[in-house]
Amino acid sequence: MSKILSGKKGIISGALNSESIAWKVAERCVAEGAQIVLTNAPVAMRMGEINALAEKCNAPVIGADATSMEDLENLFTKSMDHFGGKLDFVLHSIGMSVNVRKGKPYTDINHEWMQKTFDISAISFHKMMQTIWKLDAINDWGSVLALSYIAAQRVFPDYSEMAESKALLESFARSFGYHLGTAKHVRVNTLSQSPTMTTAGQGVKGFHDFFNYADKMSPLGNAPAEDCANYCVALFSDYTRYVTMQNLYHDGGFSTMGMNPALIQ
Ligand SMILES: NC(=O)c1ccc[n+]([C@@H]2O[C@H](COP(=O)([O-])OP(=O)(O)OC[C@H]3O[C@@H](n4cnc5c(N)ncnc54)[C@H](O)[C@@H]3O)[C@@H](O)[C@H]2O)c1
Repeated sequence: MSKILSGKKGIISGALNSESIAWKVAERCVAEGAQIVLTNAPVAMRMGEINALAEKCNAPVIGADATSMEDLENLFTKSMDHFGGKLDFVLHSIGMSVNVRKGKPYTDINHEWMQKTFDISAISFHKMMQTIWKLDAINDWGSVLALSYIAAQRVFPDYSEMAESKALLESFARSFGYHLGTAKHVRVNTLSQSPTMTTAGQGVKGFHDFFNYADKMSPLGNAPAEDCANYCVALFSDYTRYVTMQNLYHDGGFSTMGMNPALIQ
């Protein structure tokens, strides 16, 4: 099999453990010839699992709280030092809802926690792109990608404030996609993924029932994390150079379905 990311260099955020979507993306990128830097929040790095991935991928790990501009500047500067030049791709695979985690219902939300959720799950994407912009950290025809979910468009009650986070995330992709596209020929997209059994996914109430529901509703079934990783690789490769400012569904057809007889007994 030819290696479609040969010579490409990128940053991959969000690999917490081997279930993480970003973990699979890191493995696939390296298998396709890319060199990568791994990053996560310092608190997640203390859990230590990322070191096993780093060894496997021959990649340095540079800690960064994605809500901190200082941490992000350090991450992009050190990554460019490591590579001896600019990046070709960046993956934002970061999400966390304080209200969901603490079991607060949507109708009685703590708005300070909501701000924190937006900062971690969405504004961090703008912060990453602003850092890329300021440091001129990405090569022409580079690719920036964030992971999203269809709750940005449709109502999934237990997804709570993460729905608005994803709507904001997708909007940042369009708005910054204009600037990075015009100035640098850099593309920016969001990939809207099926429910996936990860730490973040399973934090949502009723996730297992919902996972099964989506699996039955989708003609192809839920898209596994490994296939999500393959799609990410395609979006980092030169085969998708003119795809930008899009929210791309990777969901086995879920987003187009209205009713599936498989769900009606
Ligand atoms: N699992 C699903 O069902 C699903 C579906 C669609 C989209 N997504 C999205 O995929 C992305 C990755 O999630 P996942 O499902 O692989 O779960 P995960 O829990 O493995 O990954 C979430 C990551 O966010 C990181 N993170 C949290 N706060 C951070 C901060 N302040 N700075 C830097 N990193 C921070 C965590 O350490 C973790 O590595 C998220 O954006 C999530 O919303 C997940």
